[in-house]
Amino acid sequence: MSGPNTEYDPVQVTPLDEEHVAAVRDEALAAIAGATDLAALKQVRTDHAGDRSPLALANREIGALPPQARKDAGRRVGQARGAVNQAFAKRQAELEVEAEERMLVEETVDVTLPWDRTPRGSRHPITTLSERIADVFVAMGWEVAEGPVIEAERLNFDDLNIGPDHPARTMQDTFWTDPGDDAMVLRTHTSPVQARTMLTRTPPIYVVCPGRVFRTDEYDATHSPVFHQVEGLAIDEGISMAHLKGTLDHFATAMFGEGITTRFRPSYFPFTEPSAEVDLVCFVCRGSRVVDGAECRTCRGEGWIEWGGCGVVNPRVLRACGVDSERYSGFAFGMGIDRTLMFRHAIADLRDLFEGDVRFTTAFGSEL
Ligand code: PHE
Repeated sequence: MSGPNTEYDPVQVTPLDEEHVAAVRDEALAAIAGATDLAALKQVRTDHAGDRSPLALANREIGALPPQARKDAGRRVGQARGAVNQAFAKRQAELEVEAEERMLVEETVDVTLPWDRTPRGSRHPITTLSERIADVFVAMGWEVAEGPVIEAERLNFDDLNIGPDHPARTMQDTFWTDPGDDAMVLRTHTSPVQARTMLTRTPPIYVVCPGRVFRTDEYDATHSPVFHQVEGLAIDEGISMAHLKGTLDHFATAMFGEGITTRFRPSYFPFTEPSAEVDLVCFVCRGSRVVDGAECRTCRGEGWIEWGGCGVVNPRVLRACGVDSERYSGFAFGMGIDRTLMFRHAIADLRDLFEGDVRFTTAFGSEL
């Protein structure tokens, strides 16, 4: 009886079996060939050539073989590992080239593409017109005043002699933020700036205030719950309705050109007395009421179009705002800026001003 001759007897070590080594090598080579990008190849390397790969395990088993068998197994495993490493290096080089080529294509900058076709946008015509209007008055020595759009009920109404029962106070016209004791409203007109100005400055006062105002109007081609007015206020000694008329005629001509003046129609505002509605000579038929033999469509044959309201500042308002009504008098006006813009540019639908469509605003150019 003899025991195993450990020097010579083959020991069954599966990982070193010739077929097994060939199989794991082929598997590794197939995986390398099948890797389509560098990330995949990295994973293949870990799986087939890493520390825990079948070939690495086989390599570790070599020491367990009898010395005679080690050489054979060592060569076998060494060759297999060499083949895998070589294939890996080759595939790695191929994939690197491929990745670089792809990057060159994907990241190409076409320097011949036109660079100046990105729409530059432009300022809104309401903004530029508001500034132009202010300029007309600044040129006459007036100043620009401002007030908040969320306004105290008192300044929007009471101080302007609009008593609690005045129809303009009903919920229909006014957006109230909080109908409590200290009620605030979204200002329904720019006239509270009159009160603010008189309360904070001493006459002589010459101010214009272009700004946003709010009323609970339905949104349609001629109404919007948000629109724009320009308020004017002049307080000085000896100011009369004649100064008002002259100022508005100048303003109208500055907006619409020579020959476009104004007329007054008697009206009523609680904060002015007397009060008037201001009409403009129709800038299409120029007051003739006819265009090409037919009734002018812009003014509907009137020869005039409505522009705003105005009047001599009511002495009650002067007194409420701390101005000496014996010494000073004044005039005030409030014109629609949206209307002015629509007239100047023949815009038929008010909504165009509020929809933020760049195709509309860019048509006005990049006026600064
Ligand atoms: N605030 C008035 C309105 O919104 C216009 C106006 C302003 C009238 C100043 C007279 C004086 O209708």
